[in-house]
Amino acid sequence: MLDQIKEHIIEVEKFQADSAEAVEQFRIKYLGKKGVLNDLFLAFKDVPNQEKKAFGQTLNELKTKAQEKVDTLKEALEQKEDNAGSGIDLTMSSEPMRLGSRHPLSIVKNEIIEIFARLGFTISEGPEIEDDWHNFSALNLPDEHPARDMQDTFFIQRDPDYLLRTHTSSVQVRFMEKNKAPIRTISPGRVFRNEAISARAHCIFHQIEGLYVDENVSFADLKQTLLHFAQEFFGKETEIRLRPSYFPFTEPSAEVDISCNICKGDGCNICKYTGWVEILGCGMVDPNVLDNCGIDSKKYTGFAFGMGVERITMLKYQIKDLRFFFENDVRFLEQFTSA
Ligand code: PHE
Repeated sequence: MLDQIKEHIIEVEKFQADSAEAVEQFRIKYLGKKGVLNDLFLAFKDVPNQEKKAFGQTLNELKTKAQEKVDTLKEALEQKEDNAGSGIDLTMSSEPMRLGSRHPLSIVKNEIIEIFARLGFTISEGPEIEDDWHNFSALNLPDEHPARDMQDTFFIQRDPDYLLRTHTSSVQVRFMEKNKAPIRTISPGRVFRNEAISARAHCIFHQIEGLYVDENVSFADLKQTLLHFAQEFFGKETEIRLRPSYFPFTEPSAEVDISCNICKGDGCNICKYTGWVEILGCGMVDPNVLDNCGIDSKKYTGFAFGMGVERITMLKYQIKDLRFFFENDVRFLEQFTSA
């Protein structure tokens, strides 16, 4: 009889089923009321005492194995049903990931930086919260100077004054204070002016300013550098035009126009039918500024220029409203790819 139980054990171990009915039949056969195990337990009574121990152990082993088999088979079948029943196709490829793209302002900023880097300009950065000296006084804008009104300022604190920088010329002051001539650096960064937000203006925008200080730097150097930049950035056929202007920190000063990159000079509403669009301000660094920053103005001269990244980007991509840059609407942003 012991052998008989052992055979049952082997049979139980081997048993496989691919349907719930087959498992149920197996359960009834072994664990049911009239099943194999019940019969054997009944027979247990008549087993001679000295064999009872071995018989009992083997019988219990059969019972456990049969129960375990039923449980595992049931579980496996349920899982299979779950997967099939939920309608999920596990082999299907997933939704494509939505990749981000660079912000158009970053694309243009990087392009401008690269053009000047090829001319040997390094990048310099400075704080967005500035003191009066670096944003105004060192730049030939003493207290009460009316030209301070050109840049409507967000003050953070009065006496001593702390403010949000109105241009990145402040970075150039810092750079000149710390470095000796010759200097060739560009300062990209965010600037702040208390202006009403419109299609053409914002109270937060981005600038790239450039500074070149060395012996014998001339206005011709400035003009040639800017022509090179304009042609690299807007295309080889681009022309530039300099109009006299005023900045407290440069003398002489100029504003630079490029031939309209949209209509090629024929006249369109971007250039207001003039054929020219303004891109930046520039000039020869005022000797006072050099001296304020510890650079000998008798030995050195320099030029500086500053441009708005938003403005250049709008021209490049023909964007009509500056507010798009700050709304971060993906439908707008995903149209731009970096070169
Ligand atoms: N800092 C000036 C501005 O923000 C731009 C500029 C820089 C003009 C350097 C001349 C020289 O308007």
